[in-house]
Amino acid sequence: MKLTRLASTRPASRLLTPQTISSLRTYHHSRRLMAVNGQANGAAHKAGGVRTNLVPFANRLKEGRALAQDVWSIFNAANLPTDCINLGQGYMNFSPPQWIKDAAGEAMATVVGNHYSHPKGRPRLREAIKNYFSPTFGRELDVETEILVTSGANEGQYSVLTAFLEDGDEVIMFEPFFDQYLPSVVFNGGKPVYVPLHPDRSKSKPTSDDWKIDFEELRRAMNSRTKIIMLNTPHNPVGKVFTREELEKIAALAEEFNLIVMSDEVYDSLVFDGKEHVRFAMLPGMWDRTVTVQSAGKMFAATGWRIGWLIGPAWIIHPTLAATTRIVFCSNSPMQEAVAAGLEEASKRQFIEIQCSEYAERRKIISEGFDKLGMRYTLPEGTYFLLLDISNLKWPDNFPFPPSVEGRGRDFKACWFIAMEIGVSSIPVSEFYCEEHVSIGENYARFAFCKDTDTLRRAVERLQGLSRFI
Ligand SMILES: Cc1ncc(COP(=O)(O)O)c(C=O)c1O
Repeated sequence: MKLTRLASTRPASRLLTPQTISSLRTYHHSRRLMAVNGQANGAAHKAGGVRTNLVPFANRLKEGRALAQDVWSIFNAANLPTDCINLGQGYMNFSPPQWIKDAAGEAMATVVGNHYSHPKGRPRLREAIKNYFSPTFGRELDVETEILVTSGANEGQYSVLTAFLEDGDEVIMFEPFFDQYLPSVVFNGGKPVYVPLHPDRSKSKPTSDDWKIDFEELRRAMNSRTKIIMLNTPHNPVGKVFTREELEKIAALAEEFNLIVMSDEVYDSLVFDGKEHVRFAMLPGMWDRTVTVQSAGKMFAATGWRIGWLIGPAWIIHPTLAATTRIVFCSNSPMQEAVAAGLEEASKRQFIEIQCSEYAERRKIISEGFDKLGMRYTLPEGTYFLLLDISNLKWPDNFPFPPSVEGRGRDFKACWFIAMEIGVSSIPVSEFYCEEHVSIGENYARFAFCKDTDTLRRAVERLQGLSRFI
């Protein structure tokens, strides 16, 4: 393939520029560090007179892939060209609305707002959660026994796993899975059992609904050791909003195998085209065995505030409260007050409806960009992620790649190439699969469109440069 310079949207080609070379050096350096740390586990290592790693770290770090160089460090802004547009990481490049931020300031102006909260969560926030969400659960939620505020959805999920897993208990995880699930399960002694969603690759214009569960395969993955199933709807990174029929089939298996269903619904306020988000807990008989996970980070564009919550029956919430109390004691107090204000005002301000239509506009910009380019992608029905099919992307044979992407799925190289050559970062999807199923994920790169429309338009303009490589 001929090496060509890109159109004027990018200042210069990334092929073998000094920046590429410096990035590669960073990679060789961090790779060396990783190797040193790996070797040092089990033996004191002496580096430049400083004694490091005298005591080996716990194996669970390795088993939970916590030490591997993950996508977030490989595709970290520091390793990419300085003007690279970041559509990799799933956080917004805009703030929560001012009226919610004001509530955080008001809380900090009080004495109590700066101190410990009750481990269950601040009463005002639990009351706001009850008022906002009770109708969506078809029941009056009990603020004392059925709602638990956590330090982000992630810590809530971790606490449920701490509360219920015994060593060797099996946890079903659909692939691609949100990457925190794996360490959270493994750190708590659980054994992940992977069940992939299967994309229909015959379609020229697939949607997230074309990613399906093979229910026979799901059933085969279950046995008497299975304790929990991790469900995620709307799904990161596919954007799939599971249908009622699919959820009913999962519910039947949950009943048959007596499972807890961890229903991660952190993107429940981001569903497009009038598609119905079905709350798993609302299916017949499912309230009793479901813990629903939600996140103020996603709902109010405040991912760094670290506020989330769990809703479920008292028999799940009570032991989980015991776990979360020992893990974090309580969550960030002023931000709980701010999130309470967010929930109290959201309906009056039609905040969720407006936000959702803004995300629909963002989805339109990015999907039309890929339409123009003629590249296939999965149109998401929910969330702020879009999967680009990169199986037809071809890069020059002599394009320089860092060692960290060698030996990984093909998508790692594709994402590196797009970032370096085009100046837009994305995330390789095979990271969210077990090794056995990498071949499904390596056909895709995840683009996060939780960015302002100007940024997305600039990204789309740059991405047209891919036409030379398909
Ligand atoms: C599917 C899913 N679950 C949970 C989380 C964690 O949310 P939080 O930031 O509230 O911990 C995320 C964040 O990206 C996610 O995508």
